[in-house]
Amino acid sequence: MKYRCVRCGKSASTLNGFTCGCGGTLEVVHAFPEVSLDVFGQRLSHIDGPFSSGVWRYKELIHPRIGTDSIVTRPEGNTNLYRRGAVSSYTGVERLQLKHEGENPTGSFKDRGMTVAVSEAVRSGANIVACASTGNTSASMAAYAAQAGLKAVVFIPEGEISYGKLAQALAYGAQVIQVRGNFDDAMRVVKEGGSELGFYILNSLNPWRVEGQKSIVFEMLQQRRWQPPDWIVVPAGNLGNTAAFGKALRELKELGLIDKVPRLASIQAEGANPFYRFWRGKHNRLEPMKPDTIASAIKIGNPVSWVKALDSIRMTDGAVEQVSDTEIMEAKAIVDSSGVGCEPASAASVAGARKLREMSDIAPDEEVVCVLTGNLLKDPENTVKYHLGELQTVDARRMNKPVQVEPDIGSIEQLLKQLNGQPMEAAVSGH
Ligand code: F0G
Repeated sequence: MKYRCVRCGKSASTLNGFTCGCGGTLEVVHAFPEVSLDVFGQRLSHIDGPFSSGVWRYKELIHPRIGTDSIVTRPEGNTNLYRRGAVSSYTGVERLQLKHEGENPTGSFKDRGMTVAVSEAVRSGANIVACASTGNTSASMAAYAAQAGLKAVVFIPEGEISYGKLAQALAYGAQVIQVRGNFDDAMRVVKEGGSELGFYILNSLNPWRVEGQKSIVFEMLQQRRWQPPDWIVVPAGNLGNTAAFGKALRELKELGLIDKVPRLASIQAEGANPFYRFWRGKHNRLEPMKPDTIASAIKIGNPVSWVKALDSIRMTDGAVEQVSDTEIMEAKAIVDSSGVGCEPASAASVAGARKLREMSDIAPDEEVVCVLTGNLLKDPENTVKYHLGELQTVDARRMNKPVQVEPDIGSIEQLLKQLNGQPMEAAVSGH
């Protein structure tokens, strides 16, 4: 096992500073052991131990050499793959599935990368782990650092973190530092801290995070009996998942474990779309921008993994698309009212699938898996404001407004009649 710079191709044996001397990001290059899909199938029966994790089940493809004693696991993964008629109708893609990463222990896909990167931090003797975050990374890192007994420092953009996520970071015992700036400023500080203060960085700049996030693809394929869909659609901010999914698919193909490589679609918010703009224009570098979107988790203007992500899109003959905040919140309202539910940034994948279908990039009979990256309980203020019609920049066509009533049964009966235009018994029983 070694590290390779994705920009200049130079190899390294340690993660020193987390970037190559040329400034490029590093990826893990494995010498894979012999492995067959049957092994992953047998491990589905494990009740405890690392192999019950939906990440470590694929250990040979993620971190073959680490001793099972060093593994810090909740366990994570084992998230559901849903079909919902309402989401299929909305997107125009009949055979659509939702891979719900919001079902991870701390509420997002970050736990998949974190179990691997924190295990590696412990193995390599790290003392202080650090990350920049708008919420999910901080909650996940704080939980895994607490479990491993590591000191955790979280850098958050002041006033821009979701309250529930701040609560998790504080409760799990991380030192929270509010940076006067946005996520990109916080990320820059953490990168400098990695080389100058010896922080062990746990953002997706850390290639072990990317290794863990490959398991989203492995588990989804196993749930589909190793039959790849035509498309995988994923929200895109810092581009860690886009990078991880491409690497997962490339390695599976090279190992002969799949025949067909699905196309990867990376979906950005219109107000935070540097990767989309780069893809559409013919520049040879990504231009950072000041991000602005309601989807806090993808409000990123200078994504660290863009070179890896570009590789993923090219390798899979994929697509990069953008969606507006109105499209994101509308797709979220559909996913939420189907009973599945997700955080705003996650719904970018569903909004993106709809758009790619409308533009005929996705054909009506193709099979699509949209990844929902986080839990409905993230950013609840914006969900409530949407349903109250109070979001200034969003056209809330699917709002579900609460109503007020006096506390007596007569008023309630009257109200139900008004709401349903039906007698009360029928309104209550739903007939
Ligand atoms: N979806 C959710 C729910 C996220 O939390 C994030 C990133 C992304 C998508 C974008 O990830 O790197 O794969 O493009 N959240 C970071 C955080 C910023 O701090 O939790 P990517």
